[in-house]
Amino acid sequence: MAKPHRIQIVGGTKFICREDERVLIAMERCGASDIGVGCRGGGCGMCRVRVVAGDYRTGKMSTAKVSETEREAGYALACRLFPASDLLIEVE
Ligand code: FES
Repeated sequence: MAKPHRIQIVGGTKFICREDERVLIAMERCGASDIGVGCRGGGCGMCRVRVVAGDYRTGKMSTAKVSETEREAGYALACRLFPASDLLIEVE
């Protein structure tokens, strides 16, 4: 069973996301709507966020929506974001 982590949105809600679950999908499952939802496939950029604190990994993301430099600065697409610890996330 994958570990559950706590996801806190800066100035927003808090929800649980398992290590093998995408943050955007977990947010929807919990009935929250802090992060924009679009294609859910890493292409549209609607779900762009910045991870302020915590460890995570990402799946394939459009480099047009998150450049390499931005990725290094913590930007990610929530539909391609998997938590590896509790996370603090900022929505633009
Ligand atoms: S919802 Fe389209 S990139 Fe995440």
